Amino acid sequence: MNSIGKLLRVDSQEVIIEKVKEIDQKHFPNPWSYSEWMTLNWGHHYLYIFTLEDEILGFALFSIVTGDNVVHLLKICLCPPYRGTEISKGFWISLLNELKQLGMSSVYLEVESTNLRAIKFYKKNNFEQLRVIKSFYSNGGDALTMNLTLVV
Ligand SMILES: CC(C)(COP(=O)(O)OP(=O)(O)OC[C@H]1O[C@@H](n2cnc3c(N)ncnc32)[C@H](O)[C@@H]1OP(=O)(O)O)[C@@H](O)C(=O)NCCC(=O)NCCS
Repeated sequence: MNSIGKLLRVDSQEVIIEKVKEIDQKHFPNPWSYSEWMTLNWGHHYLYIFTLEDEILGFALFSIVTGDNVVHLLKICLCPPYRGTEISKGFWISLLNELKQLGMSSVYLEVESTNLRAIKFYKKNNFEQLRVIKSFYSNGGDALTMNLTLVV
């Protein structure tokens, strides 16, 4: 642990998952329903929290197909007070280090085309934009797909 925070992998710890769901509901643009959270499969879903002094500052949820080395970033969310701060940088660097340690070679994601803050965040962190998927989201919004090659 340092003054920026600590990255921890979470699997079936109910209490922590409940707190993550609360953050998702409050701070994620397209939060998941209860039934969507119930579909998590710890064989290929990886949930990480970033914590400081027992507070969850943010979380990231990935899926990785067994035997593959491509990460699908399903959700990343930092609580609003920590956005644009050293905590945000620390969270992202810790995640990338973890993914490299897991032997991953790239990160793929979809982001809503109106989510300009997240798009800028990904672009400044070297993601390349791939294509647009029309009406990808349940609200009718389009998705941009993006990819980051992880350099070890
Ligand atoms: C996505 C997220 C993790 C990024 O972390 P962050 O700390 O906010 O990112 P940063 O502040 O480092 O980078 C965002 C950039 O967008 C800029 N920005 C902020 N609001 C913006 C807006 N409305 N339009 C365009 N750019 C914007 C910021 O100034 C910053 O650029 P800079 O570093 O050049 O100043 C965080 O914003 C978040 O949790 N958002 C809610 C959940 C979410 O949308 N997740 C992504 C879903 S795919």
